[in-house]
Amino acid sequence: MTLSASKFYSSGAETIDVALESGFFAKLKMRNGTFKLTQPSRFQELEVAFRPYVKERVVSLTEVLDVGVSTGLTTVELARFLADCGAASRIVATDLFIEAHIVELASWFRVFCDSEGWPLQYDVWGISFRPWIRRLDYVTLAFVPLVLGRSVLWPRLRSRIRAGGSRPVQMITRSLPSNSEIVFVENDIMCRAEDFTRRFDMVRAANILNIGYFSQEQIHSAIGNIHSYLRGPGALLILARTNRARENAGTLFELCENGSFAALERVGGGSEIEKLVLDFRPSQLQPPSGSPHC
Ligand SMILES: C[S@@+](CC[C@H](N)C(=O)[O-])C[C@H]1O[C@@H](n2cnc3c(N)ncnc32)[C@H](O)[C@@H]1O
Repeated sequence: MTLSASKFYSSGAETIDVALESGFFAKLKMRNGTFKLTQPSRFQELEVAFRPYVKERVVSLTEVLDVGVSTGLTTVELARFLADCGAASRIVATDLFIEAHIVELASWFRVFCDSEGWPLQYDVWGISFRPWIRRLDYVTLAFVPLVLGRSVLWPRLRSRIRAGGSRPVQMITRSLPSNSEIVFVENDIMCRAEDFTRRFDMVRAANILNIGYFSQEQIHSAIGNIHSYLRGPGALLILARTNRARENAGTLFELCENGSFAALERVGGGSEIEKLVLDFRPSQLQPPSGSPHC
């Protein structure tokens, strides 16, 4: 049976194992159709390959940005890796969806939803149900109550949240150490965040800027945003994608004096968007419309 959000958030961090936690988050379908998927230890070969470059620059790696972190499980591992290399880094971990709420609509009915009131899980008498629709639901007609339920509940949940009638929680890993230097921020990599400008010594974007999920134009715009977030020459960028067999294809880039990127190291043939990054020129940063500032 799926763990309910109330139970998940009521139990202490020590009682939740990583597999159970990943299972809980993996069943939550976000408003944009994505699931909160991540897996522990998925970047070991990247760490081995990139370690010498990180160690060389360890003194300057104080501010790090991890983009599209899901629950931040791999961000915790990134923090461990950087500390192990000798870096004292603070990490900003971003995702489109971090903030969430548990809204009790009746003593027997609670809804776990995002900050806009979009239902992520129903809890009826302690039994949890998914609000999202599977293909089979169109055959069995189970989609009808799901669609109706969501359209009735969504505005109600949103007003309850705005009125403070909810329990706010964050969709982040419980494996976060209490003394962690990781700060979670809701952010869309497609929208330029002014407060990130020239702030980071290293940016990682893993399993997010994927061909097939984003258009080439969107990926280009995200590269422009990431470029503007890097402090300056010598700053590092890691791009990676994990396949179904848990193999990684990734590239470690360095920002050059002329503002373009150079590839320092590759794993599994390199990032699938490596060429877009290497072809990127800073002059492309100021198109008339620019990246949306949302
Ligand atoms: C597959 S997970 C990757 C998690 C982690 N980086 C890893 O590799 O294990 C992709 C995450 O990107 C987030 N995401 C999707 N679009 C995004 C955007 N435009 N800006 C920021 N995060 C986004 C999703 O919410 C999801 O949590």
